[in-house]
Amino acid sequence: MFEPQSEAFAINPYKFYADLRQLDEPYFYEGAAAYLLSRYVDVEGAARNPTLVRSLDAFMDPNYVKAQQRARGWHDMPNHERFVQFSLLERDGATHFRLRVIVLRALSRRFIEQQRGMIETYVDRLLDQLLQQKEFDFVADLASHVPGHIIGHLLGVPDKDCPQLRIWSENIVQFFDVGRTQAHKILAENATTEFYFYLSDLITERRKKPQEDLISSLVAAQDAGEMSESELISTCMLILAAGHGSTIDVLGSGMHTLVSYPEQMRLLRQEPGHIQMAVQEMFRFESPLPFFHRYASEALVLNGQHYPKGTKFGLLYGSANRDPDQFHDADAFDITRNPNRHVAFGRGAHLCLGNHLSRLDMEVIFLGILRRTRHIELSDPEPAYKRSLSVRGPESLRVTLTPK
Ligand code: HEM
Repeated sequence: MFEPQSEAFAINPYKFYADLRQLDEPYFYEGAAAYLLSRYVDVEGAARNPTLVRSLDAFMDPNYVKAQQRARGWHDMPNHERFVQFSLLERDGATHFRLRVIVLRALSRRFIEQQRGMIETYVDRLLDQLLQQKEFDFVADLASHVPGHIIGHLLGVPDKDCPQLRIWSENIVQFFDVGRTQAHKILAENATTEFYFYLSDLITERRKKPQEDLISSLVAAQDAGEMSESELISTCMLILAAGHGSTIDVLGSGMHTLVSYPEQMRLLRQEPGHIQMAVQEMFRFESPLPFFHRYASEALVLNGQHYPKGTKFGLLYGSANRDPDQFHDADAFDITRNPNRHVAFGRGAHLCLGNHLSRLDMEVIFLGILRRTRHIELSDPEPAYKRSLSVRGPESLRVTLTPK
């Protein structure tokens, strides 16, 4: 039985993924109404396949699309529908490409690398406080503060408002998971509406007085006729929502994994130059966004099996990353793994646009902690993980750090 909201799945999803990879055909999971692709070759191939798309809109009858939206409960939430459900992640073809190029330009590798000093200063300040405590929750007290602050800073949000961004993004994102309720719907719509008003004010300010930040570059793109105001708002929301919880989760699972493999932690302490490989391995080993969907925009044959137009597939990036046909000793955490062609950031047309930023956050945090501590220990050796198919990360992670 595949029950991604069970405790057993939260404890170890990889056992279930291994079973799925053994099946002759993709498993049909009712909860997501999708065929689950679990092998690396199938997941990677699907992410690259241009006939497999994110949205039904482009190729299905509008009445059918509306009925699907209702069946999933994605209706009667005007702002969420307008800004979140139709973000660039949910578009395909020319519109998607146009918006993607704007973000790619704004989040260039060079711009992100320029943020290293700012991130180091922020993390060092957090560590100054935390290292005075004997024990703390790595997720709530450290990981949760970093991505929201950094993305907020890049967008151009004042420091004092960054904690609010976290609440909005969590309430917006939780609505995408299976098992959502009416209460989740209200929270998601309210968060989108509040965030919309907040961004509208910020955009007006930046239009009057541009700064060196993302909102200013997106405003410039709008003024140049490259995107509408609604697309601008939606893109800001996506940048925050896509990169926030996922980075918190992988920081938590990365720390959990590192402490669980003491010889790997020792190696990283001795060879801090391995940090980039170590971070990539953290993303492979515990992918924080293990599931994304695609629709077949035309009839498809996959491994000899026929699927009609409109079929929904679930791409299990988290399973592909543990496939022994792709990765030697796939269930071992090895910070020297090279090459490491994991798919934690997806592949193809929708490849993550924030991967440089999230890897930089991770590098700075782990290097900072290892540099300033002699020893790290878990207070609870078996931290509980979230019960979810779409996200993977510990609920909390109590640690004891011994400073140098
Ligand atoms: C822990 C970190 C992250 C992970 C694991 C992650 C993962 C992913 C994945 C798997 C996709 C592709 C979805 C698909 O295949 O349908 C994606 C798309 C995207 N990500 Fe990330 N992401 C992370 C952080 C970020 C950050 C920090 C940002 C922004 C600053 C960001 C912005 C985006 C955007 C804009 C897209 C949509 C790209 C498109 O549709 O063309 N992500 N991400």
